[in-house]
Amino acid sequence: MTVTLETTQLAHEDHGTGVPVVLLHAFPLDRRLWSPQVPELSRACWLILPDCPGFGGTPSLPDGASIEDYAGLVVGLLDRLGVETAVVGGLSMGGYVTCALARLYPERLRAVILADTKAGEDSPQVKEGREATAASVLREGPGPLAEQMLDKLLPPSLPGRDIFSDEVQAMMLAASPEGIAAASRAMARRPDSLEALSRLDCPALVLVGEDDALTPPTEAERMATAMPRARLVRIPHAGHLSNLDQPQAFGKAVLEFLREQG
Ligand code: MLT
Repeated sequence: MTVTLETTQLAHEDHGTGVPVVLLHAFPLDRRLWSPQVPELSRACWLILPDCPGFGGTPSLPDGASIEDYAGLVVGLLDRLGVETAVVGGLSMGGYVTCALARLYPERLRAVILADTKAGEDSPQVKEGREATAASVLREGPGPLAEQMLDKLLPPSLPGRDIFSDEVQAMMLAASPEGIAAASRAMARRPDSLEALSRLDCPALVLVGEDDALTPPTEAERMATAMPRARLVRIPHAGHLSNLDQPQAFGKAVLEFLREQG
């Protein structure tokens, strides 16, 4: 389902020059997720970091919005920036938006980066859980969700926890309840993207933390196997937010991939 969009534009920051590279953040975070990658990547490309609707500086879309609507806003941002084709990447929910771009706007993709995400749709049980999340966040605000998600996003046994837990908590607590609810419901409605990925005729980097329990390496393998021009990089000692657990290894994999694209 799509909704009629007002003139919602994606808040974003950009750094550097060269090949445009859009990175889309995870749920329920915002573009600050990519802070550790900015210094290195902005020396190699034109790094464009949007906030998805309802997170950071971008207002929520109305309830009923879809992941496809989020993808449409990314295309709107590319148009405003005068960008015909970009490398587009996303982590987890950002990957779902990237998959929607692969389904609907493959001609705008120069290459894709799919990090700690999956192509499949949600099980009925997960859909129910997302509806419960939406309802509870609208009732109680983001606090309880933030508390519940911290261990999943940054498990205490992995290196990102000690370094980034304040930042991750701050992002979750800053997200609007309406934005979290709309994103939960949009994720629950997203269709399977594996077929679209298998038709994607551009280079792809699939990244996954070896200890990612939310979107495990088997999901990454499934995408990388289906995509004709994909390479899979597994990052040791990293969980779901692999770019925070291992910023150097994550940045190195992305930089190598970008260099190969020329
Ligand atoms: C995310 O990190 O974006 C979420 O875990 C995605 C999801 O809930 O499927």
